Amino acid sequence: MFRTIKNIFSLVTGKPHVSKKVRSQETMNLILNRRSCRSFTDEEIGADDFQAILEAGRFAPSAVNLQTWSFITFTRNQWHEVFDRPIPFNGMRAIIVCADGARLKNHFSDFRETPYLNISFALFNAGLAAMNMTIAAEALGLKSIMLSETGKTGLLDFSYLQEKLGLPDLVIPVTTLVVGKEKGGKAGVPPRQPWNAVVMEKQYHEVNSQFLDDWFQQMFIGFKLTHPLSNFQKQLAFYKKKMAEAEEEIKKQYRT
Ligand SMILES: Cc1cc2nc3c(=O)[nH]c(=O)nc-3n(C[C@H](O)[C@H](O)[C@H](O)COP(=O)(O)O)c2cc1C
Repeated sequence: MFRTIKNIFSLVTGKPHVSKKVRSQETMNLILNRRSCRSFTDEEIGADDFQAILEAGRFAPSAVNLQTWSFITFTRNQWHEVFDRPIPFNGMRAIIVCADGARLKNHFSDFRETPYLNISFALFNAGLAAMNMTIAAEALGLKSIMLSETGKTGLLDFSYLQEKLGLPDLVIPVTTLVVGKEKGGKAGVPPRQPWNAVVMEKQYHEVNSQFLDDWFQQMFIGFKLTHPLSNFQKQLAFYKKKMAEAEEEIKKQYRT
């Protein structure tokens, strides 16, 4: 009981621990206060702003400067044409960020001998591009969310997206970045694993499983608070099934 109360307290008070001086720094503030947005208004996004977000992706760092990514963009209408439903959470624009190993394989013979490494780099690089775009959106006063499941939007719906978007082998739809203006209040802070579980000095150390139990309980409490009518275990089972399916698709790519 005491642990549950402690975890509820951690959930409610779990904000980044940084000094006041750091918090007053604009970029740090933007990074630490970014939250995934799950409700957007009908307000348009300026073409310049949308272009700037994509440029932030294009200018992200990448291993060996390989830029192993492709960005497929959508307006609301275009999304509807392809998927026959609205952009999730009523977003105004969407960008499907793909890890793209096809260009390496097809156009640069030097990289043909290392397919596993290529995909690993491509996935990492695509994540960096998506994060750069997220930060750019925040800097422009917009909000965003990366999705991999909601509305069949990413890695967990690999084969569906492959078919809908005509993706060739080695092009992996990692995530959909939904962008727009935020509707309603600011989202709460989902629980972070504790500092001691993730920050390690000098050498790797095993994580105390009690830390992770606490974090998992905080996730559970957070889920119950935000989805009072849903069943956490059912949701987990649903994810597990989709993950098993996506696993098979990923395996195929590694064998390509
Ligand atoms: C690759 C990726 C995929 C995600 N997929 C989903 C999703 O399908 N549905 C959803 O509601 N949130 C999704 N999220 C958002 C995470 O739930 C969110 O980032 C996490 O809970 C931390 O919250 P914060 O972004 O507000 O800090 C995704 C985030 C990432 C990075």
